[in-house]
Amino acid sequence: MAYKDLRQYLERLEVKGLLKWIEREVDPEWEISCMNRSVLHGLPEGKRFALGFRRVKGFPGKALVVGAVGISLAHVAAAMETTSEGEALLQKMSAGLSHPIAPKIVARGPCKEVICKGDDVDVRRFPAVVWSPGKDAGPYFTPMWFTRDPETGRRNIGIYRSQVKGRHKLAIWTPQDAQRNISRWFAQGKPCPAALVIGADPAFYLAAGSKMPYGFDESEAAGGLRGEAVELISCETVPLEVPATAEIVIEGEFHPGDLEPEGPFGEFTGYMAASSVPMPVLTVTCITHRRDPIALGLSAQFPLSESSILRQATREASVFKHMRHELMFDWVRDFHFPVSGGTWGWSWIKIRKIGGPQVERAVAALIAYMGTGAGKWIVVCDDDVDIRDPFAREWVLSYRVRPEHDIRVVDGVDAMPLDPSAGSPEETAKRGRGGLSGRVVIDATYKWRYPEISLPPREMLQQVRQRWQEDGLPPLGELWFPCEWR
Ligand SMILES: Cc1cc2nc3c(=O)[nH]c(=O)nc-3n(C[C@H](O)[C@H](O)[C@H](O)COP(=O)(O)O)c2cc1C
Repeated sequence: MAYKDLRQYLERLEVKGLLKWIEREVDPEWEISCMNRSVLHGLPEGKRFALGFRRVKGFPGKALVVGAVGISLAHVAAAMETTSEGEALLQKMSAGLSHPIAPKIVARGPCKEVICKGDDVDVRRFPAVVWSPGKDAGPYFTPMWFTRDPETGRRNIGIYRSQVKGRHKLAIWTPQDAQRNISRWFAQGKPCPAALVIGADPAFYLAAGSKMPYGFDESEAAGGLRGEAVELISCETVPLEVPATAEIVIEGEFHPGDLEPEGPFGEFTGYMAASSVPMPVLTVTCITHRRDPIALGLSAQFPLSESSILRQATREASVFKHMRHELMFDWVRDFHFPVSGGTWGWSWIKIRKIGGPQVERAVAALIAYMGTGAGKWIVVCDDDVDIRDPFAREWVLSYRVRPEHDIRVVDGVDAMPLDPSAGSPEETAKRGRGGLSGRVVIDATYKWRYPEISLPPREMLQQVRQRWQEDGLPPLGELWFPCEWR
């Protein structure tokens, strides 16, 4: 059963021990970020929880939850109503993305319980967070942005950082699909309508974080992921539709030439994103929200962060969907973006060899689909290893790769704009955002028949296990190996 709204999802998280509420007053200028960081760095994956704050300093009556969608894979799995064990999450998400369901447009919804227009409009009344205290330019929302292509009318939803610039003003930072839509409206000499959603059914966040081709409506992906159409409702002042059960909706327009310095902001690479750069600024026309709204904030800084974990799950599912369901590469057995690279640095593809240039085909498919997001280090290996295990990955790189033959540097690909190694600040200032960089492709598959694995036969290990207790030894866990063997 799909979640009705964010509130129902939060209730489920609380029951599962995946959300803890804090009753005392907390400071969004530093304390919330530091508490979120403490969960990320102080607790292992299986023990992490989202944090809910009922009393946010300076924002009476407005609750804030951080980490609800992706502080751990267990949270992403809860949003998908499955488990993070094994391949269940990848399989369910890629199947959902492969079966989009068109949204239902409804006339009424709780996101209209309070409507603020004219003098009532003030984005500063909603809790935004300073995520890198002492370093960020100020408080930021991490909302979903809804925009449209002016020609096709196709909707786009993406999560993009949003700096609070004043009562009616919010800056956006993105080189992705929303930017493309903004440019297309401006090319027609028209303002670009947009709406931000802060808090909604988690399926929207999973769809918004997924990599879908430009022109694909992520609200259909959200329907596919939750197995039921999402309900959208028309905005008050712009020709867009947003989730009917959203907590907070901010409507507005980008006007051609209306740019303001944005940033700095701590990013998923682990570094602060440059200094301030002029970016489009939204002029807010209306805010609608539920009574006692619950804002949702997502961290996007040093990996681990919610952004890296959420993008890991959604982008792995996007690539897997593309390779398995669209290209019919059933020999691609798994795909992994390790979170240590901010879900960008490394891409691992696990294949079952059936013959032909499979490594080249898999790599070409990944780059064609993900573009810049394909990563800097792309590794392809056989299906006897667990590419989700860092030990296994390092072992494979140690003994299945001939550096002089199996590593290829591909030059002249799009640089990832936030990668500080793509160019010195002087070079970046000269050539502007973007530019060209390189990536490395590593064929870590077996090239010939290898010697046997130097581990005892499994049956012998099993015999030892049976006598373990008789020998008076402390209990054994599951035996772990980086690869399959006989
Ligand atoms: C918490 C979080 C913050 C993000 N911030 C940004 C951002 O500021 N700019 C950006 O371009 N992408 C950001 N992303 C990634 C995009 O949401 C993601 O790449 C998405 O696929 C973009 O959608 P699009 O392809 O429709 O543009 C963020 C993702 C998450 C989960």
